[in-house]
Amino acid sequence: MATPRYTALRGTRDLLPEEASRWRFVESTAHELFARFGFEEIRTPVLESLELFTRSVGAASDIVAKQMYTFQAGDEAVCLRPENTAPVVRAFVEHALYRRVAAGFPERLYYIGPMFRHERPQKGRYRQFHQIGVEVLGAEEPLADAETLHLLDQLLRHLGIPDGVLVVNSVGDANCRPAYRDALLRWLEPRTAQLCEDCQRRHRDNPLRVLDCKVEADRALLAEAPRLDEYLCTPCRDHFSAVCRALDDYGVAHRIDARLVRGLDYYERTVFELSHADLGAQSALLGGGRYDGLVQALGGPAVPGFGFAVGLERLMLLLPPDLGQAHRTDAAIIPLGAEALHGAHRLADHLRREGLSVLVPLTPRPLGAQLRRADRSRARFAVFVGGAEQATGKFGVKDLDSGEQQTLDEPALLAQIKGDPRR
Ligand code: HAM
Repeated sequence: MATPRYTALRGTRDLLPEEASRWRFVESTAHELFARFGFEEIRTPVLESLELFTRSVGAASDIVAKQMYTFQAGDEAVCLRPENTAPVVRAFVEHALYRRVAAGFPERLYYIGPMFRHERPQKGRYRQFHQIGVEVLGAEEPLADAETLHLLDQLLRHLGIPDGVLVVNSVGDANCRPAYRDALLRWLEPRTAQLCEDCQRRHRDNPLRVLDCKVEADRALLAEAPRLDEYLCTPCRDHFSAVCRALDDYGVAHRIDARLVRGLDYYERTVFELSHADLGAQSALLGGGRYDGLVQALGGPAVPGFGFAVGLERLMLLLPPDLGQAHRTDAAIIPLGAEALHGAHRLADHLRREGLSVLVPLTPRPLGAQLRRADRSRARFAVFVGGAEQATGKFGVKDLDSGEQQTLDEPALLAQIKGDPRR
């Protein structure tokens, strides 16, 4: 019987070394930049209780209704997390991190990790995907929204991501949204037959989601629907204008779209998304907003929240090709014959202890094969070790970019490599 060929599951992917190196570059850029803004990393489990998401993201949302990986483990209904705002808020409540919040000084948390949604895979859409996200807990000031969006803007700039359009809106709060919801329902009622199948379902569960429909005919029809901004109560309206003013002060380019709504139920007031034409059909690079009622809904005190999450796979599609390449190997040590293998490994050990990256074979190989391998590792220097070198303590050293050759003893070799500007 033929041995089966195993492949990664549909919608999941392997990151081979070249790609992993670019991911690590993005992750370390994020770690460094977030620290500058006073954010601290939080790591929560990939497995969570199903109920956490039905209560927060919403039982009627597409994510919970259609895309969750859920299973029964003993008597617990568990799932693979589809997003990380609810888990971070769960941890914030569970560990009473709200005790660390003081007026003007919210808790600032960030995460980088895998999320799972059972969607139809396509370019930029996976079943296991990754997010870089931040959550600011304990600040309702519009300045919190603007400063966090400025951080996001900085992150994209540091990564050389071409400009996208940050689209912002306010979806109101528990005071004013019900009136809008009623007005929209009244307007939709005589027109439901004209809506797409998804919207006919959405409009019953959560009418606001209809505004997010991507079907052209629905969009044309909905252009005439009541506008959210006309229903905002004064505090929500004032909050949103203050957010927009603070974004201007921070120099964060944005566009207001009164039709922008999000697919997760926990949002109140500010919401935003950033799309990019180069991403094709899955054009949303990131999204987020304010969720002032979520901490309380998950059993904590009344603590407001604001955050965003960037899809890493989508971000990688936009990352300039020259960023995040693997580091070059400092030296390829080339033993000339079987007797030189021991000396070659001794030299490799010395250089590695000095912090250099070194390539050395485990078995004698022809010179040509060794040089080809050195080339694949983009080694900067080849260091030849043969009988003569071992006797004199001096090595033939070749700069693999310029072809220049020198004979150096070990201290001079070290100085040469360490002082090299290409490191
Ligand atoms: P979200 O809009 O559901 O928000 O996801 C954020 C980003 O994750 C999307 O813009 C997209 O780039 C990426 N993403 C989502 N699904 C997939 C997928 N199947 N494949 C690849 N990438 C995907 C949230 O998850 C919220 N928790 C964001 C947030 C944080 N709000 C407040 N704080």
